[in-house]
Amino acid sequence: MKNSYFDLIDQTYYFPQEGFDLRDEHLTFHGISLKHLIDKYGTPFRFIYLPKIGDQIKKARNLFNRAIKKSGYKGTYNFCYCTKCNHFSHVVSEALKHKVNLETSSSFDIDLILNLFKEGKFSKDRFIVNNGYKTDDYLQKIVHLHELGFRNVIVVLDSMEELKRLMHFAGSNKIKIGLRMAINEEPQSSYYTSRLGIRHDEMLDFYKSHIQGNDQVELQMLHFFVDSGIKDSLYYWGEFQRALKLYINLKKECDSLNQFNLGGGFPIRNNLGFEYDFDYMIREIVQNIADACNAEEIPHPNIFTEFGKYTVGEAGAIIFEVLEQKKQNDTESWYIINNSLMNTIPDAWSIQEKFILLPINKWNHEYQRVNIGGISCDHSDYYNSDELNQEVLLPTYPNDDSTPLYLGFFHTGAYQDAISGYGGIKHCLIPSPKHVIIDRDEKGNIIDYVYRNEQSADEMFKLLGYK
Ligand SMILES: Cc1ncc(COP(=O)(O)O)c(C=O)c1O
Repeated sequence: MKNSYFDLIDQTYYFPQEGFDLRDEHLTFHGISLKHLIDKYGTPFRFIYLPKIGDQIKKARNLFNRAIKKSGYKGTYNFCYCTKCNHFSHVVSEALKHKVNLETSSSFDIDLILNLFKEGKFSKDRFIVNNGYKTDDYLQKIVHLHELGFRNVIVVLDSMEELKRLMHFAGSNKIKIGLRMAINEEPQSSYYTSRLGIRHDEMLDFYKSHIQGNDQVELQMLHFFVDSGIKDSLYYWGEFQRALKLYINLKKECDSLNQFNLGGGFPIRNNLGFEYDFDYMIREIVQNIADACNAEEIPHPNIFTEFGKYTVGEAGAIIFEVLEQKKQNDTESWYIINNSLMNTIPDAWSIQEKFILLPINKWNHEYQRVNIGGISCDHSDYYNSDELNQEVLLPTYPNDDSTPLYLGFFHTGAYQDAISGYGGIKHCLIPSPKHVIIDRDEKGNIIDYVYRNEQSADEMFKLLGYK
């Protein structure tokens, strides 16, 4: 007797597991019947389960606060939500119910904060950490926030050049600043320094020559972000220690410095066998900072994080149905789904990101290895097993089966909408540029005109559900 899909999952992983279970032979997500949603809305659809956002925030806060208590750490823990990860009004509003601070990446993010403030969802005493490249427009809006009385706005300088432009726009305002340390990217073939931030070996001189004694700015934060994630690896701890040492050296020169910002990078479950010891990593982070500061007799800094993917990734999913099964040769089976993977989960195609893929029905059928194809014309519009041995195994079924096979990609709540340009939104809310048409008139002369102007903040906000 052959094994069913259920046997496969049951024997390979702990199942049921957090968020996933079966009811009446159909998959449920946090107790919600996906069959009910399919019957109600039809496929394809994406959804976001808002309560998961609060659960993630509470979990991180609890673990940090427990570690702080246990190690006698004197600083505080401050959770910032990184808006670029998912900007939708319902998502940011949900995070704000849990009193998060916000991290911004570009100019429209400031309009977004003002919008949330007007709606009474964000108050002037929360922290706003301004990251990303500072265009003049972005800087002017940040200064405006100060003028409106937002008390805890911290501009994290991404380059030394940004300081000059900030001072130009700041006028008589004294602006709180942070410095972002450029990390050495995780080595693939060779080390290289990230374009984001200020070089580690230039930081102290920059502080002494341009910030110390400068009445227009006050240094409060050191920021670093290891893009490949917070992992218990030699590489991560190496970058962490470099940043910590730099913090200590800066602190010896600068009284006002009291915040150490680790950026984002907590992982999410992208397969059912995922294991990550959040408790251990957080305890190590807190203890390492405490030990290093104690050794140098400097006060423990307040710890900031800017978790994006961790906050919203596990709240989202997208459901498809299989339109057709195709066998292109003896070994290659295809399930063609009723949308495009490139358009809906672009990270799967562009950076080979994996998501949890599960069937919604037919769990008692046998299973086979398949490729999943989208209905766009693009060769790359597919999802399949990879070299990390994340096999795409799904139930078999006869062609004349009366019900289709439904598939869900889970934990897709972070970045996928923005990167795929859902409805016209954009990554980091960087607007679509002007669109110019060039043609020749009847006489053959070149003519040009603007087809559409640069996207405005208002246009973007309508798409994101803000008033
Ligand atoms: C400065 C900064 N902070 C935080 C984040 C969020 O990272 P993650 O979604 O991995 O938590 C990013 C992501 O690009 C970032 O650039």
